[in-house]
Amino acid sequence: MKVLVTGGAGYIGSVGVRELVHEGYEVVVFDNLSQGHRAAVHPEAVFVEGDLRDREFVDRTLAEHSPDAIMHFASKSLVGESMEKPFLYLDENVRCGINLMRSAVEHDVGRFILSSTANLFGEPDSIPIDEEESITPGSPYGESKNILERTLRWLDDLDALRFAALRYFNAAGAASEDLGEDHDPETHLLPIVLEVAAGKRDKIEIYGDDYDTRDGTCVRDYIHVQDLAQAHILSLEALGDGSRVYNLGNGDGYSVREVIDTARRVTGVEIPAEVGPRRPGDPPKLVASSEKIRSELGWEPQYSELDEIIASAWAWHQKHPNGYDELEE
Ligand code: UFG
Repeated sequence: MKVLVTGGAGYIGSVGVRELVHEGYEVVVFDNLSQGHRAAVHPEAVFVEGDLRDREFVDRTLAEHSPDAIMHFASKSLVGESMEKPFLYLDENVRCGINLMRSAVEHDVGRFILSSTANLFGEPDSIPIDEEESITPGSPYGESKNILERTLRWLDDLDALRFAALRYFNAAGAASEDLGEDHDPETHLLPIVLEVAAGKRDKIEIYGDDYDTRDGTCVRDYIHVQDLAQAHILSLEALGDGSRVYNLGNGDGYSVREVIDTARRVTGVEIPAEVGPRRPGDPPKLVASSEKIRSELGWEPQYSELDEIIASAWAWHQKHPNGYDELEE
């Protein structure tokens, strides 16, 4: 089976590609390298440098490579940025996804896996959050994924394709010392905390400590990228039995302060922290129930402890203090 992977040069997509290759799939990576890295593209994958905004190019690529399935990782994915640039998300993120879906339908690609998000649940009624929870996106980013999920539901209703929407909670960790998290600019909590530990920044700013949580800082459910990649393979294999939607997390919530404390323990470095204002769009608490994918597909996270997740990210940081830069020179 051949799988076209958009965003296959990115942080999560590159790990998905590696798993697919290990499992014997043929892989075509489609990426514009705006956020991804050429060095993160698996050597056994075919690489197509292209932009999802260019519908004709997307069409030609699907015609040329005839994939059996698509994994759509490529996306703008920053909650805070989406509050400042709503159209980058509500227009561009949506348009890229729809361009791809339209080509998928026109070229009879019957299987589609969407990287969706916990930001669909800005104000959850109950924690942990299962798939029955009502959708109240926390930001234009969450709304853009909601629109794409709803489009896929229609395509399923119309028998145009089968899909899985995988709502990631907070992806973290490194799948090996060669594939890691390297964004420019970096905005995510854990990599910034590790940059402080490595001496590349002076301190970590905590975005608000007046939330209604156990220590006043936001609580998130951190899930290792390798476990996310496994969920993609299992979902792809299950699509023959119908479309599906899963929430993907470990089921444990950690506050921002707890993440910093754990990183101090793992790295042995002090990591200065300072409280600043809230960041608009941040829901106070997001913790997943992943019972559905566990019981339906037998998914079992291998990295369930935050210490292990942070240790894997720290190993990548130490091996690549300048991220992928040195690999691409
Ligand atoms: N945070 C800080 N200081 C920082 C960076 C982050 O206090 O310098 C806080 C944030 O306010 C938030 C938590 O740390 O409470 C995690 O923030 P991240 O930016 O690492 O991640 P988000 O929870 O904002 O978003 C991530 C992905 C989204 C996804 C979401 C799902 O970037 O794509 O997880 O929960 F939708």
